[in-house]
Order: sequence, then C-alpha cells, then structure tokens
Amino acid sequence: DAFEGSGVWRYSAALPFEEGVTLPEGSTPLHAVPRLEAEIGVNNLRVKHEGMNPTGSFKDRGMTVGVRVAQEIGVDRLACASTGNTSAALSAYGARADMETLVLLPAGKVAAGKVAQASLHGARILEVDGNFDRCLDIVQDLTDRGEAYLLNSLNPFRLEGQKTIGLEMFEQFEREEGTLPDRIVLPVGNAGNTAALYKCVRELRRSGAIAEHEVPKLTGVQAEGSAPMVEAIENGWDHIERWDDVETIATAIRIGNPVNAPKALPGIRETGGTAVAVSDEQITTAQRDLAEEGIGVEPASAASIAGLRKLRREGVVSDDEDVACLTTGHLLKDPDAAAAAGSDPEPVPADTEAVLDHLGA
Ligand code: F0G
Repeated sequence: DAFEGSGVWRYSAALPFEEGVTLPEGSTPLHAVPRLEAEIGVNNLRVKHEGMNPTGSFKDRGMTVGVRVAQEIGVDRLACASTGNTSAALSAYGARADMETLVLLPAGKVAAGKVAQASLHGARILEVDGNFDRCLDIVQDLTDRGEAYLLNSLNPFRLEGQKTIGLEMFEQFEREEGTLPDRIVLPVGNAGNTAALYKCVRELRRSGAIAEHEVPKLTGVQAEGSAPMVEAIENGWDHIERWDDVETIATAIRIGNPVNAPKALPGIRETGGTAVAVSDEQITTAQRDLAEEGIGVEPASAASIAGLRKLRREGVVSDDEDVACLTTGHLLKDPDAAAAAGSDPEPVPADTEAVLDHLGA
C-alpha cells in the first residue's frame, strides 16, 4: 500500500512528513492475557507488544521519523547515547539511510542482543566508562559543537513517531473491546515515551477525536534502583532530582536523569495517572508470567506488568478498569536475563532409553 506496510507512516497526517526511512515498523500486536487479567484482577488487560518492531523495540517508531528529518537537514553523522535499544534502532535505520552512526553506551550495562545489533548494522560504538546519563551529557556536548545530529528522545521528531503507539493501540482497543483503555501502563527511563503518549492524547483531545472522560491515565513504572520520577511525584511533582547511582536488572531503564521529565510529569499529572517503583524480583516474576502466556519480553518491559500488579494490590487501580500495558522490548534483546529467569537445560546422553529414563517414564 501507500505506506509500504508501515504502521507509523499510515498516520502521516499526524507526522511532519508523508513518508520516511522504513523497515517497516509498527503494526504490533495487542495481546489478550486472560490469566494475568484474572490474577491481577482488572476488567480488561491487554498487552501492546512493541518488542515486535523490526529491531525489537518501540524505538523504531521514533527512528523512522528522526532519520527522515536528518536526511532532510542533510547532516553527516547521526548519534545517540543509549541503554541499548535506541542504539540498535539508530544503527539499523542509519544503515538503511546509508548514513554514518555513532553510539555511546555505558560499559558493561547494555544487554548482549542490543550491542550485537549496533555492531552488525555498522555503528561506531563507544563504550563509555560511566552510566547512561553521562553518555547523554557527552552526546549533547558533541551535538552542541556541531559534531553530530542527536537522535535521543530529546529530539522532538522521535516523539512524533512514538505517538503512533497510542494511535494504533486506541484503534485496536476500540475494535476489539469496543472502548478505549482507562489506563496505559508503561516503563519509564528517559520518559520520552510517556511524553509522546501525552502528546498523542492531547492532539486527539484537541481535534475532538476523543472526549475528556476518554483520556487514559498515564501510569509510569520505574525500577526501585532508578526511580527519580517516582520520587519527584512523591515530593510534590514540581522538582526532579538527578540520581547519580542507579542499578537494576532492567538495564534499558537504568536512568537517573530522565531528560523528558518536564514533558512527561505534566502528562502523568493531568491525565490522573501516577508512577510506581518495582523491585528487580517483581520485574523478573512479571517477565516469567508474560512468558507463560507466550509473550517474550525483556526485563524493562515486564516492569509495566509488575507496576500494574503493585498498584492494583494497593487499590490505586480498581477492578473495573480497562488497562493497556506497553511491553517495549523483545525477550531476545537480553538473552542472559531471560535464561536466568527461566529453567536450566538438563544434560542427557544421546540415547533414547537414557532420555526416557531421565524423563522418569
Ligand atoms: N523500555 C525499553 C525496552 C527501553 O529501551 C526504554 C528506553 C524504555 C522502556 C524507556 O523509555 O526512555 O522513553 O522512558 N531505552 C532508551 C535506550 C533509554 O537508550 O534504548 P523512555
């Protein structure tokens, strides 16, 4: 079709261009999860699996637009700091556009699948002896000095593309459930996606496409070891403090200085949402629970389910709500975390009798 099958560019009326550098992205599934729905205890629970994008995360939706803009401007070098997924997406879309890409990664803190992607797609990879926030400081310095074009979520065109997560999910939810979700639960790192979804609902609201009472409550989830947004809300919304030391198994959201907080916090507040922190153990449990329903996600993505479960138990989320959880990245992004959360292979001899024996037949 006219959009080359892209679930992003089919919404070009809401984007700065008619078409872009496409692989193609979007059109991700909205899974029913009946067992989790019953166990957590909400009216409706759907999982929007953004890990099913071409490079395995929602970042592709932003990158297809961001790289298109970079082409238009005519820059020499694309760059980002990343906990992994942004670098994988930038490397692939940069390769597609035949442009030079540079990625700065926190040494030792990026999951194996993501580094492999950046490597094979031909990015120049700098391993920085510091965390993600320091990487982003440096990339911002480089772009200030005209050395690169910034494709982190500080780039507003990235967020334009990511708005389509909301547009697509609302269409699917309405088609399948006859209603819009009361709440969207998503993992928060740099808070770009939260800001993108807020822009999405604001534009739908202003155009009259949805009514005030249909605006879903934006609900963010962070890991306990890197939860500056949660802390900012507890301290009265107005001020956010940078965390210098962050740690979590969910390395994708191991971020202490959410640069989009000024756009995301008002979104959470004005939609009647909240933010919550979950432990690594709760994240791993949720990753297993999703896997048991056939949905493979990386740890940061499972945080959305872990956060919903916690908020439901605390009574913040009520049992009559229709909820959409975003799972942002694919299981294969972080094979080590998946293997650690799952069961171990059992060695057996290459012999049928021995295998039956082992099975206890
Ligand atoms: N989930 C995954 C799998 C991510 O990779 C990220 C961010 C987030 C959630 C949080 O999204 O930053 O918009 O709040 N990853 C970035 C990266 C930081 O470099 O790949 P956010």
